[in-house]
Amino acid sequence: MRIQTAEFVKSVVNPELLPDDGLPQIAFLGRSNVGKSSLINSLTQQKGLSRTSSTPGRTQMVNLFKINRAFYLVDLPGYGYAKASVKNKQELQNLIRGYLDAATRLVLAVVIIDARIGPTPLDIQILMHMEEKGTPFLVIANKIDKLSKAERKKMTTEIQDALPGATVLPHSAETTEGRGEILEAIQKACKT
Ligand code: GTP
Ligand code: MG
Repeated sequence: MRIQTAEFVKSVVNPELLPDDGLPQIAFLGRSNVGKSSLINSLTQQKGLSRTSSTPGRTQMVNLFKINRAFYLVDLPGYGYAKASVKNKQELQNLIRGYLDAATRLVLAVVIIDARIGPTPLDIQILMHMEEKGTPFLVIANKIDKLSKAERKKMTTEIQDALPGATVLPHSAETTEGRGEILEAIQKACKT
């Protein structure tokens, strides 16, 4: 799939303000700082489309980007940032949950994990939620550029063993490895 147009549509905190135009939505979920916003920029090849930061907690709203005027990529805040205040953590969790409950046209949940760490208990909780709801999901082993060849082999086995049956694709925003395969999965999901 070729991305011809990628435009920022809006940021929402109230799920009632999500678009109701019936276009499919692909949501990006994962721990704070794992690279959700960077993945959206990597897929669209627009470095500044979604704001990224080396400090966790950059994305604080539900940000919608319309692609090829045909579907949305939805950048969500991250979860699990230990140093965030209890109030902020609760707010972000409510925002993520509010989105997942309200998104009637969610065709794919892209759950991003850090390839160096593997799935955390919070990641597994999200994946179980998707399975229960019957929402198709895809796991991305991100920041794969940070692993040596040997580490990569070890982690690929470890991650796949921890998530039996899940499709796990490697990705790096640095080298763009995995970009084509992820776009293919998104295209397939949009046709459902
Ligand atoms: P929050 O919005 O805070 O939840 O973070 P996020 O998941 O959107 O992460 P973001 O895209 O802002 O990236 C966090 C940091 O990781 C930034 O410093 C990025 O440059 C870096 N980063 C993201 N993806 C990769 C990658 O594939 N490889 C490497 N080496 N760094 C990456
Ligand atoms: Mg972000």
